Amino acid sequence: MLDGKVKDSRYPLSFHCTPEEGLLNDPNGLIEYQGVYHLFYQWNSKDCSHDYKSWGHVVSPDMVHWERLPAALIPSESYDKDGIYSGSAIEKDGKLYLFYTGNVINPDGSRSSFQCWAVSESGVEFKKLGPLFEHPQGYTRHVRDPKVWFDNKTHQWRLVLGAQTLAEQGTILCYSSNDFKKWQFDGELFDPDEMDKISQRGYMWECPDLFQVDGQELLLYSPQGLTVEREQYQNIHQTIYLPLTKEWQIVPENGLIEMDWGFEFYAPQTFETADGRRVLYGWMGVMPPEKEQSQPTVAERWVHCLTIPREVNFHEGRLYQRPVRELQQLRGEESSFELMRDWESPLAEFGSEVCLIFDSPAKEFQFEVTTGFLLKFDVQTAMLVLSRTNWEDGEEEFRRYQLNEPLKEIQLMIDGSAVEIFVNHGVAVASARFFASEKPRLKYTGKNQGHGVHFSLLDCR
Ligand code: FRU
Repeated sequence: MLDGKVKDSRYPLSFHCTPEEGLLNDPNGLIEYQGVYHLFYQWNSKDCSHDYKSWGHVVSPDMVHWERLPAALIPSESYDKDGIYSGSAIEKDGKLYLFYTGNVINPDGSRSSFQCWAVSESGVEFKKLGPLFEHPQGYTRHVRDPKVWFDNKTHQWRLVLGAQTLAEQGTILCYSSNDFKKWQFDGELFDPDEMDKISQRGYMWECPDLFQVDGQELLLYSPQGLTVEREQYQNIHQTIYLPLTKEWQIVPENGLIEMDWGFEFYAPQTFETADGRRVLYGWMGVMPPEKEQSQPTVAERWVHCLTIPREVNFHEGRLYQRPVRELQQLRGEESSFELMRDWESPLAEFGSEVCLIFDSPAKEFQFEVTTGFLLKFDVQTAMLVLSRTNWEDGEEEFRRYQLNEPLKEIQLMIDGSAVEIFVNHGVAVASARFFASEKPRLKYTGKNQGHGVHFSLLDCR
């Protein structure tokens, strides 16, 4: 968006949503309302800490060109005085409703959470309507992130929450409403037998999202407390997708699949566009506090961004994520190159899109985004490897993805300090930030049959 602090940043981002200043985390309240896309996000406008959360707000006619609006919700009431936490949006009877969690620090230092709502007729100013229901019994105060939708099968409103049981295990709570006012607690999404199908539970589940795409019920959630399993669950927290049956039971053979194998993707949310597409935004991203505070943009008083909008599909048991087609409007000058020879180009001023198309299954190659940040393909192990020099201690760090099919195509969306990599039409996706000390140069090295296409992206202010 190239405004606010980011405009003068050494690490500018032009087509990723950033805060004007301060800290951004989860995408919230995604909706197409009266023909306009509304994107809200967790925002600490005061500094780069997680101490104060409001809902930042941007709007767009096309998910490409954005306009900033004033914060939609800021802490003000007894039930949300210490933070407006994550949630979702619904249009009903021409009005825009926001559902969020009010965070409260009590005088004795303990915390409470309240599930709240607010309404708007303008889509700009919101009136708070207060808490929706009592805190459920049997759970710690870690109950949050309401996602609301209308269930066409039961003709009811549904609401799910991320939660922690008193035994400190992650779970999801379900509510329903016939009249959009009174909410009934329907218990946990999964009973103990279902939970047994999950190899690792973790101590808290955040930001659940339950929806249908291509006839498949899917649950996305962001568990905390998973331990590393080979190349999986390497980040501090992760996001998992689970295919469910129509009765919301877990399809066991799938296991816990991470939605993004990069460094810091977390807390995504989806919404349905008027033309029926399921679109996702995630946060880039989650990381340990020391790493966050040493992120180079903190010195410039802003930190983090959202992913680009990704269209989500489901085919033959697998989730696909691809940049929404609207982003093709940003394609400017186009050039192509052969994958048989090395290729090099500076990163374009407003970012570059690069597509590598392999005519036969890819052999060894490497694609450098900038010094110290590269994507490699290791044919021996069929492993994609992302490596970068860590800004915290200067060490190299890696994320790996085991590809169980021939590598045919890679699309890279490269902004000034963020990259998103879509493999084989989005069946595997990796996102990561990078902080280059000099102007990044893109370099392909390898000997493959096929070609690459480079688009310099246009200014999308
Ligand atoms: C996920 C999360 C949510 C919470 C919000 C607070 O990143 O921890 O569970 O609502 O961030 O900013």
